[in-house]
Amino acid sequence: MNNKISKYRLPKIYEKGTDNIWTDPYISSRLLEAHLNPEFEGASRKKSFIDASALWIEQQFPVVSFPKVIDYGCGPGLYAERMAEKGYDVTGIDFSKRSIKQGKVSAAKKSLPITYIYGNYLTWQPQEAYDLALLIYCDYGALSREERKALLTNIYASLNSGGQLLMDNFTTKQLEDFKEETSWQIHEESDFWSEGMHVVFNRSKKYPQHTILDQAIVQKVDTMQVYNIWKYFSTKNTLTEELEEAGFTVQAYYQDVAGRKYDVSAETITIVAKKE
Ligand SMILES: C[S@@+](CC[C@H](N)C(=O)[O-])C[C@H]1O[C@@H](n2cnc3c(N)ncnc32)[C@H](O)[C@@H]1O
Repeated sequence: MNNKISKYRLPKIYEKGTDNIWTDPYISSRLLEAHLNPEFEGASRKKSFIDASALWIEQQFPVVSFPKVIDYGCGPGLYAERMAEKGYDVTGIDFSKRSIKQGKVSAAKKSLPITYIYGNYLTWQPQEAYDLALLIYCDYGALSREERKALLTNIYASLNSGGQLLMDNFTTKQLEDFKEETSWQIHEESDFWSEGMHVVFNRSKKYPQHTILDQAIVQKVDTMQVYNIWKYFSTKNTLTEELEEAGFTVQAYYQDVAGRKYDVSAETITIVAKKE
């Protein structure tokens, strides 16, 4: 029995929960369903957006100049497959076993030569160098300051000189309407968080450093799991500083990874950064 009352304590900033949604055996299956639902904006963006985004990426980073692509947090390969279909030599890394397995099965079915790596991109040491790195759908915002630094350093090291990074994140605009909330629900049947009967306590809290916590504490018959989902919101300046600190030179700003014009009032920011 690990139903400890101390699990309800408010965590310190960026403290990990007991489990992670992307690697949890049950929740990762629900997230994979979300990735593969073309109309659902959740684990991945909608199919129509990803199609437009992949097309824009191809125009900005032509395959002749950027033949080798590494997709950080590739999920089941929605971008990896589109890029491979356009002739790029694609590697995808993700720490969701389920997503990597799905990516491999799908690539084999479509005869796409994608290399999938099951691993943690915060610690992964690439064995080869790439021309274009992708970090898409605001994965960056889930990381602590130290993790963001480690990831950008790793991405920088994984690029050839002249190689570029395309990444996006949430902006502080989203913080303006944020409201702290606490709620709980009794579920008699399976849902996103668990199979069978369970109780979910949700808490949204504002922290310093442009950060919020979306927490779910899931209580089942004899277990209690804590999922701490951190969201760090960037500004144009903070994101630029963090990229420059890792050695990058910023090339361009956009609103999204489909090339929409940068706008200070937008809820996401996209940056293209170069390794000179
Ligand atoms: C929001 S999803 C985005 C997936 C994909 N980029 C897309 O747009 O379809 C984030 C992905 O990053 C993966 N991820 C998060 N942290 C990771 C880490 N430390 N190492 C490897 N993969 C990670 C998750 O498993 C998940 O597949």
